[in-house]
Amino acid sequence: MPGPRLPADPGRYPTTRPRRVRRHDWSRRLVAEHQLNVDDLIWPLFVFEGPEDRQPVPSMPGVDRLSIDRLVEAAATAADLKIPAIAVFPATDPALKTPDAEEALNPENLVCRAVRAVKAAVSGVGVICDVALDPYSSHGQDGLVRDGYVVNDETVAALCRQAVVQAEAGCDVIAPSDMMDGRVGAIRRALDESGFEHVLVLSYAAKYASAFYGPFRDAVGSASNLGSGDKKTYQMDPANGDEALREVALDVAEGADLVMVKPGMPYLDIVHRVKEAFGLPTYAYQVSGEYAMIRAAADRGWLDGDRAMMESLLAFKRAGADGVLTYFAADAARKLRSG
Ligand code: PBG
Repeated sequence: MPGPRLPADPGRYPTTRPRRVRRHDWSRRLVAEHQLNVDDLIWPLFVFEGPEDRQPVPSMPGVDRLSIDRLVEAAATAADLKIPAIAVFPATDPALKTPDAEEALNPENLVCRAVRAVKAAVSGVGVICDVALDPYSSHGQDGLVRDGYVVNDETVAALCRQAVVQAEAGCDVIAPSDMMDGRVGAIRRALDESGFEHVLVLSYAAKYASAFYGPFRDAVGSASNLGSGDKKTYQMDPANGDEALREVALDVAEGADLVMVKPGMPYLDIVHRVKEAFGLPTYAYQVSGEYAMIRAAADRGWLDGDRAMMESLLAFKRAGADGVLTYFAADAARKLRSG
């Protein structure tokens, strides 16, 4: 019986050829380990007082600040596209910003009116609100400043009130983005005591003092308030990884339902470690600066924008994220729907 034809020198050929499964589209699809779905997307949106319908954010091409009416339309678009949730960020009138950010506690403030309008008009999409004082403070810091320092415990008390005010407006998910110590537990208790035990807490558990938030600060108008200040006394040092796990452990113990790592792409190692260590629903925030980098390069023809967008989002899934907050959410959802 003649056996199979052997090469003259079998040692010259690899016995394992990883390229075999990459040869055809069908076999690539068959072996794909991860997939991005519309269900993985959370869409951050900026709301402003008007009177215009929308105002472009120059450092985020394709992203506008929206009037409440246009925000409601965007929420309806999210619902149509089956994007599970939106995150609403207010660009507060500078005249309303004060050192102690009292506007954050005003039940009639912009974000509360916006959330009520969305909830009245659109169903089937979750509404997430940040808890932090920076959209309302004249110094642009996330907390209360005493003697030049962002104080912890007095800030937490204010954040608890802000969380309850936002829950009263109809917000489904409270997302503390301030990095004060102990705020998740305190906010959880404040929500429960006010009858909001069903409101979720999405903790910005590992949030770094990052240069990639610049365009966001333009969008909400806090950049000029912050000036040359920074947030290094409360946001994490980009040098640290183990510390992120300790931060997440605290927030989990304090009752966080969902945890987030922020920024996203430069911190995929942290996303991976957090998911491995806790197995909790874990989100990554592809922040404004990441969006701006991809958009700016794509607009100049230096990158294929659609491909870079989809690749960057899939990378979050591969790292272990359950979902991604991304300014690309609607574009990515449309692309996923059109196959
Ligand atoms: C507010 C907040 C920031 C972002 C989300 N919530 C900015 C900051 O901490 O200075 C950044 C989001 C982005 O860059 O897209 N605390």
